[in-house]
Amino acid sequence: MTQHDIDLYYRTILDGIGTAGKLVREGFTATKQVKTKEGAADLLTEYDQRVEEILIDRLRESFPAHKFIGEESTALGTKSSFTDDPTWIIDPIDGTTNFVHGFPFIAISVALAISKQVVLGIVYNPITDQLYSAIRGRGAFRNGQIIKCSGQKSLSLSQILGEYGPNRDPAILDTKCKTLETIVEKVHSIRAMGSAALNLCLVAEGSCDAYFEYGVHIWDYAAGDLIAREAGAYTCDPSGAPLNLIHRRVLCAATKELAEQMIKLYLIFAIISITISFVVSDSCRDQ
Ligand code: IPD
Ligand code: CA
Ligand code: CA
Ligand code: CA
Repeated sequence: MTQHDIDLYYRTILDGIGTAGKLVREGFTATKQVKTKEGAADLLTEYDQRVEEILIDRLRESFPAHKFIGEESTALGTKSSFTDDPTWIIDPIDGTTNFVHGFPFIAISVALAISKQVVLGIVYNPITDQLYSAIRGRGAFRNGQIIKCSGQKSLSLSQILGEYGPNRDPAILDTKCKTLETIVEKVHSIRAMGSAALNLCLVAEGSCDAYFEYGVHIWDYAAGDLIAREAGAYTCDPSGAPLNLIHRRVLCAATKELAEQMIKLYLIFAIISITISFVVSDSCRDQ
């Protein structure tokens, strides 16, 4: 892959995101059909599917050999594996619950992985018109301005992002609540904003110091992970192991030191991983 190729990929997806962003802005104030997917708090609107179609159509037109892993195509039954092929990983609307409620913290998140390495990531909030982007090795940007994470090393001085997620299984929810309760005693604050992709960008820009979540999908964190790392953040599995995009969990911190303090709370995290038995496989259909 040459510099020229990556620049072409970047321009093409930016074009698709521009069109998709207009539709999201229209939908934000429109009356929407709200359906549920796997549970009462797992929401879906007609806009999620339409945005994903716009992005895939635009990319397929220019790069017919590329593969796609999209949240809504996967939900509709499209079998998509994470292979070495150039693969676009798409979350058409990250923060659908916010979208439904008119809370302006939502994003279109797109990553391109080649040989399973994310080389390009864009997270765009069409409501606030903030575009976070990164190309591997070239830094992270918000609306064209370089961004850096906070560099915070101390857990007690940190603002941490956590999420409850859409799963309402009492055991899972209870463990997540207990984890967040335990952490809040040790930090300045905890925020649950409702978009995994933007959470990673908040760490990237330095307005929050760390974010962790169990139960996320590859499309939630592929782009944001690259943006955070290019801004100097440290990302890993909450166990301390290297981050794996199909393992459905992420810890992102401004520094390795801060990540290590959070990993020390691993006993609590371990309870979650034991309680929540997510299927980890090469097939994204099962995630
Ligand atoms: C969700 C959001 C939310 C996170 C969930 C995700 P969606 O994505 O990122 O913040 O807690 O785990 O599923 O469904 O709005 O695209
Ligand atoms: Ca969803
Ligand atoms: Ca998502
Ligand atoms: Ca989504």
